[in-house]
Amino acid sequence: MAPSRTASNDRVRAAYEQLRDLLAQGDGTFIEEGPAILRDAIETDGFFDGVETEHAEDSYTRRLVHRESDGPVIRFMEWPPEYALLPHEHHGRPCFEVLVDGQLFVADMEAEKIAGNEYDLNVVESTVCNPGDAGIVDPRTGSDIHAVYSPVRTRSLHVYPDDNHYGIGYVPSDEANDLYRKERFQLRE
Ligand SMILES: [Fe+2]
Repeated sequence: MAPSRTASNDRVRAAYEQLRDLLAQGDGTFIEEGPAILRDAIETDGFFDGVETEHAEDSYTRRLVHRESDGPVIRFMEWPPEYALLPHEHHGRPCFEVLVDGQLFVADMEAEKIAGNEYDLNVVESTVCNPGDAGIVDPRTGSDIHAVYSPVRTRSLHVYPDDNHYGIGYVPSDEANDLYRKERFQLRE
C-alpha cells in the first residue's frame, strides 16, 4: 500500500529536522546551508519513498511533502514541458529549491516603476538549473523578482521558511511598450 503523503518517511523527517534547526539560527543560515542539506538528502536511498509530485499538465503543480505546526515547509513541484511562469516575487523571507530532474531557466529581474501600477522589467541575471543545482530567492538582497521556464518536464523540491499561499505577479499590461502591472495571485495548493 502506498504510504499516505502526510506520513513522511524517516529520510524526509531527518532532512526536515536539520532544516528546522538551521532556520532556528536565522534566515541567513537557513538559505546558506539549507540547499546542501537538501541536496545530500535527496541522494540518500529511500528519500523518495512515498514522495511524489502531482502530474503537471497545463501549469505547474505544488504538493506538500512535509510541514509541522511551526518550522519550514517542504514542497515538491512539477513543471510541464515548455512552460513559462510570468515574473513574480515572493513576499518577505528567503527560500530555496533544489532541482531533482529536468531543467529550469531562471531569470532574475528588476522592476522600474513608470507610473502608478506600471513597471518596466529588466533581466539582471539568468541561470540554468540542472539536477542537483540549487536556486535561492532572497528578498533581503535587493530584487527578488524572477521568471521561470521549463524546457522539459521538471521536478524540484522547495523549502520555505513558512507556508505562504500567495505571490505577487507581474502581468503584461501594455505589450507595445513592454510594461507590466503588479497583481496578487493565489499559489497552487
Ligand atoms: Fe518563485
